[in-house]
Amino acid sequence: MTTTLTIEQPAYFDRLAEVEAEHWWSLGMWRLGAHWLDAALRGRRDLAALDVGCGTGQTALRLACRPEIGSVVGLDPSAEALAHARRRHAFPLVRGSALDLPFGNSKFDVITCFDVLQHLPQDGDRRAAEELRRVLEPGGVVLIRSNAQGWTSASPAIEGGYRLGDLIKVFERSGFTVRRATHANCLPALVQELRGRLVRAGRSGPSSHPSGGGLKIRLPHPWVNRVMAGVAAAEAVVAGRLTARLPFGHSTMLLVSRNDDQ
Ligand SMILES: C[S@@+](CC[C@H](N)C(=O)[O-])C[C@H]1O[C@@H](n2cnc3c(N)ncnc32)[C@H](O)[C@@H]1O
Repeated sequence: MTTTLTIEQPAYFDRLAEVEAEHWWSLGMWRLGAHWLDAALRGRRDLAALDVGCGTGQTALRLACRPEIGSVVGLDPSAEALAHARRRHAFPLVRGSALDLPFGNSKFDVITCFDVLQHLPQDGDRRAAEELRRVLEPGGVVLIRSNAQGWTSASPAIEGGYRLGDLIKVFERSGFTVRRATHANCLPALVQELRGRLVRAGRSGPSSHPSGGGLKIRLPHPWVNRVMAGVAAAEAVVAGRLTARLPFGHSTMLLVSRNDDQ
């Protein structure tokens, strides 16, 4: 099944829940961020985590498996998403919006927010960033992932996609220090860009890619999935453990902390 689904369709979360634990893209993106968290959270224990826009709960599950994390809360406005998450684990799940987080100040040490910003209304990213800062404990970190714009200004516009510098500005202006920043999913973006250039021949319009504008939510053939998982794991080492900033990719990722931290 290759149909493109969007988060407005109830079937989106059914399909996501079926494949995300094993899909090379989901595994690779998590590994990259996990390398950053390894360094940022070293030696800490019993931390309170929040996953904003938790979808079907996969990231909350992955957070809960980390040794530093003592508790996890998932938040999402979608009843369909939360129903999936509820089936998978017993974490507290809250229906709500990143624009108005239903938590007191400084409640969480670790917050993840993956592929949510591109779904918010205009100026929603700034409002969400301010909310993330408000509920973040001093000394805590936020890991953000969002869609990226294309490789060059000649690339077709990705709806809701960020230039990495613009995403950095949103968080810096909202009181964060950016500790890590990179593009991610670099090689598939390069292949798609080159293929697009060959076939586009003057056509324009919104493009799609695996992380957002059109996630084709299906597992590829097992060996393709294994090869791509290897590529994504290598990228995660380069951008995550070695902290190299990749110049382009389908996604943007940031690790930020409050700018009043020491
Ligand atoms: C592309 S999915 C990503 C889900 C999950 N974070 C992941 O990485 O698989 C986008 C998620 O953002 C959620 N979302 C949309 N608007 C939101 C808002 N205002 N606040 C929080 N989450 C929102 C959607 O319900 C959906 O679960």
